[in-house]
Amino acid sequence: MKIMIINGPNLDKLGKREPEIYGNKTLRDIMKDMVEYGKFLGADITWTQTNFEGEIIDLINSGDADGYVLNAGAYTHYSYAIRDSIKACEVPVVEVHISNVYAREEFRSKSVLSAVCLGTISGFGIDSYRLGIQALVYHNEED
Ligand code: DQA
Repeated sequence: MKIMIINGPNLDKLGKREPEIYGNKTLRDIMKDMVEYGKFLGADITWTQTNFEGEIIDLINSGDADGYVLNAGAYTHYSYAIRDSIKACEVPVVEVHISNVYAREEFRSKSVLSAVCLGTISGFGIDSYRLGIQALVYHNEED
């Protein structure tokens, strides 16, 4: 199974950005661990990061994976364009967040993406990605 992890805006700053919320690890280190975890589950993981909404949409529309793990960052809370691309996507998308978005500012407790995703994982730190990968692999095995 081919899984693409898409990281949205400001996730390139992990390690430096609000470490009390997002931890000390860089995105590169986290993604390295996820590639290894994918191998353990028999999944082929690729990953990317972009600060551009349209690029996230192009990646989802590319159909270049059997499933996506998406941390859309702040776009989660207002991007109807990303929502539409997920809705039109023929493969499952799992929404993930490092932090517990429901325990933070009010605006973060609304996701415009959740309803069109396979499911949402929020608040488990870096393990949110791990759980997202696992959810896609298990879902794929059920089919
Ligand atoms: C985030 C939560 C979002 O509200 C925030 O804008 C992010 C990161 C998370 O992983 O916890 O950029 O998606």
